[in-house]
Amino acid sequence: MLIYQIYPRSFKDSNADGIGDLKGILEKLSYIVRLGVDTIWISPFVKSPQKDFGYDVSDYCDVDPRFGTLQDFKQLLNEAHRQKLKVIMDQVWCHCSDQHPWFIESRSNTKNSKADWFIWADARPDGTPPNNWLSYFGGGAWAWDTTRQQYYFHQFLESQPTFNLRHPDVRKAILQVGKFWLDMGVDGFRLDAIHTGFADPALRNNPARPKGMAVAPDVPKDIPQARQLRSNSEGHKDTLIFLEELRKLTNRYGALLLGEVGGENPLERAALYTGKKRLHMAYTFSLLKSKPDAASFAQTVAQAEETKNKDSQFCYALSNHDVKRVTSRWSEAGVKQEYAARTALLFGLSLPGTYCMYQGEELGLPEADVPFDKMVDPFGLAFYPKFKGRDGCRTPMPWSRIGSSGGFSSTRNPWLPFCEDHRALAVDVQERNKASTLYFTRRMIAWRKAQPALQGDGLRVLKTKGDIIAFERFDKKQRLLFVFNLGDTSANYKIPAKAELCDEASIGVQCVKNSLILRAMSGAVLTLKTH
Ligand code: BGC
Repeated sequence: MLIYQIYPRSFKDSNADGIGDLKGILEKLSYIVRLGVDTIWISPFVKSPQKDFGYDVSDYCDVDPRFGTLQDFKQLLNEAHRQKLKVIMDQVWCHCSDQHPWFIESRSNTKNSKADWFIWADARPDGTPPNNWLSYFGGGAWAWDTTRQQYYFHQFLESQPTFNLRHPDVRKAILQVGKFWLDMGVDGFRLDAIHTGFADPALRNNPARPKGMAVAPDVPKDIPQARQLRSNSEGHKDTLIFLEELRKLTNRYGALLLGEVGGENPLERAALYTGKKRLHMAYTFSLLKSKPDAASFAQTVAQAEETKNKDSQFCYALSNHDVKRVTSRWSEAGVKQEYAARTALLFGLSLPGTYCMYQGEELGLPEADVPFDKMVDPFGLAFYPKFKGRDGCRTPMPWSRIGSSGGFSSTRNPWLPFCEDHRALAVDVQERNKASTLYFTRRMIAWRKAQPALQGDGLRVLKTKGDIIAFERFDKKQRLLFVFNLGDTSANYKIPAKAELCDEASIGVQCVKNSLILRAMSGAVLTLKTH
């Protein structure tokens, strides 16, 4: 499967309010279809005060007026289906907005019917929060409610209270939400941060991260939360109860469950969360790291494929709305951005399972530099300037070389500034140039679909040194050897006799006798003899 992730606020604005919307997506559906992907995942567009730009939901069953109406969504869904595209909705079911009526009722007193729908706890005798848990977005993970005279738990912003998913009525209400959208015809759900839904019921402290232990891939290194081992604040095994109920529901519709699985030991956790009765697929953060690191990538992919549940697959990604764009991450050492963008794409498309592209990846967009006075991401604002947050990967899609917002909107002031560096990479510019990254993306997607070896999960990661990563992908009919140089200097790689370089899918490489010469940031595909 190939997924294209749409961040609706920044994709296409149809009504000149500076915020992308569902009609905008509808307008651009044929562009997405032409890429060759089969599925779109749309980040949240339901009602929300937008404190976390949609990941704080105040009504799960209605469209936020900024994005359009339910009718607009139905039209989009029908048109996507007519064009043979599946639609996955982002569902934020581990927390909601503090504006959601369920939370408003819950916080009103300790006796109401939703009193236990969230995680409430008394203060310690000295008035401090019940334990040391930290929020992902800065500060402690407990907020004081003056009416209830208790703390409530929030994994993210204070305005995103975490549900008490152990309460059967909460899960029932969420399953109703799922049913609502499945009845409408959506093809599946992306479950937001599903590892954050169940914490230790005894609320025990998180221990300090042992010295030398790597930080989980979904947390930036320089924030206090990275110093904790989140072994008690998330990932409790009761998560499985919820996943199994969700799977029973989606099975009735043949719909897909794709879970965002992060936190400590995300690959083992993904294996646990997937399978016939749980998620179909786990979205992993493991390749969304700051630098391309051949050794750790090779190990990650090998480990992921080895440990995965056999009835499931991984959904790999190199960019999304939460991390610095891959073009910039992979060109930090001074490599040409275009090389980084294309090598990353070829790498992503060579992996087993599903690959999920993020809007703009097909254009090779670099991260935008959003000045402090234009920043809006609360995560970035909390840790600036050490960590600039997520605005830089969320700026408007450049549709056109002209116009103050590059064809994204007819207003001059979109919600995040248009990135001037994106102008020369706009869709209309790349459409006119068959050598562009956009055309490269379309060719590579079509090529991936035509390779028998890339349809299943046959993978053998080879031992390599330095910045080289090499693996074989195979099925009964075909064996392909992929060799990537992720470094900033050129490198050589010895290939087996009779290996044939596949020119149409290789970038920046030459084959001299039995050796490949790979420039900095490049990738080679070779056909090997099948046994
Ligand atoms: C989403 C983020 C969001 C967070 C809280 C994440 O995993 O991708 O964008 O801020 O969950 O909902």
